[in-house]
Amino acid sequence: MSDSNTRPTIPIQIFENFTDASQFVAQKIVRLIQQKDAAGEKTVLGLATGNTPRTLYRELIKKYQQGEVSFKNVVTFNLDEYYPMQTDNPGSYHYFMKHELFDHIDIKCENCHVPKGDLPWEKIGPYCDWYEEKIKSYGGIDLQILGIGQNGHIGFNEPGSTKESITRLVNLEEQTRLVNSSEFEHIDQVPYQAITMGVQTILDAHEVILLANGEKKAKILAEVMANRMESSVPASFLHHHPRCIFMLDPTAASLL
Ligand code: PGA
Repeated sequence: MSDSNTRPTIPIQIFENFTDASQFVAQKIVRLIQQKDAAGEKTVLGLATGNTPRTLYRELIKKYQQGEVSFKNVVTFNLDEYYPMQTDNPGSYHYFMKHELFDHIDIKCENCHVPKGDLPWEKIGPYCDWYEEKIKSYGGIDLQILGIGQNGHIGFNEPGSTKESITRLVNLEEQTRLVNSSEFEHIDQVPYQAITMGVQTILDAHEVILLANGEKKAKILAEVMANRMESSVPASFLHHHPRCIFMLDPTAASLL
């Protein structure tokens, strides 16, 4: 029975360690690509940046090098990019994706989409609309990979983001700038804004896997699981997704 007081619960899988979780997701992605290839279809992946997916990307590269998978028919859409941000800035998510994944696999450049952080301000609105349309033109995202911020953000959908939000320019919380300043020489270099897929864009993906590790994520994960679906904890909107799972290491899961 379901009514407005009943909160669906997101399934959680806890692994012995985060490498095991990342390997599991890598294997799942490879299987998805193989199935789609066999059906003559493209695989559309939603990708994340940050520390969380680094091991996953290393595993995917390994599987490519071992000849298990080809990314020739894979299309990717990244969640977000800072604004303003040049693509060759080592703090940019363009740079991250190139170095952590794209340069090491046989994916076609034209199939890799990372929101552009170097557009003039007046072009951002139409560009965000284009990003949404581009995702739809491929029939939507088959599998979206997510991390979670310590403030509950998914992508750069900071607290206050609505369930209906789509790709747009957003302001970053000071806490987010501080946490992410390790990717820059100085916090002054961390942009105050970003372009991010919206919560709705993420919810529209056919399947979602949120990866999280470490005790820094334990508190917010407990809040997500306890929270009704509220914009103060954007990740809690994932309760609305029928095919979403959290894959965690034991420390991230320690308060659940
Ligand atoms: P992290 O960031 O993977 O570096 O912990 C996750 C996020 O902010 O979404």
